[in-house]
Amino acid sequence: FQLPLIKNEPPKNYGPQSVEREQLVAAYRELESQLPVTIPLGVNGKDVKTNDIGEQRCPFDHKKVVARYHRASPADVQAAIESALEAKKEWENLSFTDRAAVFLKAAHLISTKYRYKLMAATMIGQGKNIWQAEIDAAMEIVDFLRFDCKYASELYSVQPPENSTGVWNRTEYRPLEGFVYAITPFNFTAIGGNLAAAPLLMGNVVLMKPSDHAVLSNRIVYDIFVEAGLPAGALQFVPGDAIEVSKTCFNHFDFAALHFTGSTNVFRSLWGIIGENVAHGKYRTYPKIVGETGGKNFHLVHHSAQIRSAVVNTVRAAYEYQGQKCSALSRLYVSRSSWEAGFRDQLLQEVKALKVGAPLEDLSNFVGPVIHRGSFDKLKAVLQSAAADSEVEVLAGGKADDSTGYFVEPTILLSKNPKHDIFKTEFFGPILAVYVYEDESLEEVCELIDTTNAYGLTGSIFAQDRIVVRKLTERLRNAAGNFYINDKCTGAVVGEQPFGGARASGTNDKAGSGMILSRFVSPRSVKDTF
Ligand code: SER
Repeated sequence: FQLPLIKNEPPKNYGPQSVEREQLVAAYRELESQLPVTIPLGVNGKDVKTNDIGEQRCPFDHKKVVARYHRASPADVQAAIESALEAKKEWENLSFTDRAAVFLKAAHLISTKYRYKLMAATMIGQGKNIWQAEIDAAMEIVDFLRFDCKYASELYSVQPPENSTGVWNRTEYRPLEGFVYAITPFNFTAIGGNLAAAPLLMGNVVLMKPSDHAVLSNRIVYDIFVEAGLPAGALQFVPGDAIEVSKTCFNHFDFAALHFTGSTNVFRSLWGIIGENVAHGKYRTYPKIVGETGGKNFHLVHHSAQIRSAVVNTVRAAYEYQGQKCSALSRLYVSRSSWEAGFRDQLLQEVKALKVGAPLEDLSNFVGPVIHRGSFDKLKAVLQSAAADSEVEVLAGGKADDSTGYFVEPTILLSKNPKHDIFKTEFFGPILAVYVYEDESLEEVCELIDTTNAYGLTGSIFAQDRIVVRKLTERLRNAAGNFYINDKCTGAVVGEQPFGGARASGTNDKAGSGMILSRFVSPRSVKDTF
């Protein structure tokens, strides 16, 4: 068989008076009129209500409740696991074409029927503006679903090259024995969808625990998968207390894999629990642990760089979606000559001109709210301590306002101390730390980039001199799993740049590639003798 042509989902034009803008605004208003949405668990294909209710609030208007969601108890999670294991018997025996058809249909449904609804849920729930919502909930998610099918078909076709006379050797890519547990992040609806879809496509069954701050958009994705033909029970939707839900999953003998996107600390502690259980032989198999976690991503601007391009890319990488992408830029190393030849002035001018506000109120708002009170308080504390710190100069921004929503000004912090904490700690907000290096100290700056913190997710170099590009590319080999030359360090495109990093940033299995799909199979070598 041949899959239908797999290509990236194109963007739409949301210009004034466009039909697309009208449709999006209509979907947004409709969703807004339904708030708060009640969200039950999805167990064995059925809606299940509990008497433990959580609230998802709107980040740009925190009085507004977006969703009241039912939270799973340990007994609910246990029931979901048993139902998933039961559903597995049918799901894993479907042919790959049948499974792929579900996800290609889901991609089609998002592209044609639910595009604006999913974008609206991402805007209201996660505070994205139209363009950020689109690249996530209308493009990246569709790309993941389609390209996963392509990568899976390629993986299945990898077979042993040799057969001696009278023998047919084959590799079977069996689904894992047990169930997969997926924990989704708030910041990308696409990532949440893919955390479930990638293992499902390979014939696994999945329990999905949505982020408390993205329950609505994650539930819409779940409903779309079901509408696309996913059998009851193959995917279980279990919002709830992260620790309780996780412990119930990790205590089960048939726990087979963790598929995680979230913070480094949470990932480490989950790994610890799983490791302890492995040490005591509590599982049928060694569980696979696949995770994408934090970053402290960098731009390095060499004196041969084109200044305008480096500035524009820096502003986009640091402040789009309020710096809440795992790939977001948060430390900038710029050569003194570039800094003084216009980089500084242009950067300040651009950042001071960025408009802050709610997504649909004014479409020219570039920076929206950060996700919740906890994030706001943490970022505000960073700004307060920067203001009081003699080693740090606040070049732009520096204020935060939570009177209606969680708004933090796009901020630039400059320090002459490259070992300062602002170059080490992941803020996950619109705060950029800047260090100006002397042009001749390129090796020293590479050492700083490579060793100042424990992460290794994304990074970019800006230089026109190709010898420098080559040297930096080698020198910074381990500093980033996604490495960009003369482009921003955010915005990996599925099908173009598989995404993920090593070190403290994750297991680097590369979302949007066959590598990650290979983590969700347990191959069997079959020698068939005639
Ligand atoms: N894939 C996104 C990016 O590259 C982050 O998750 O920006």
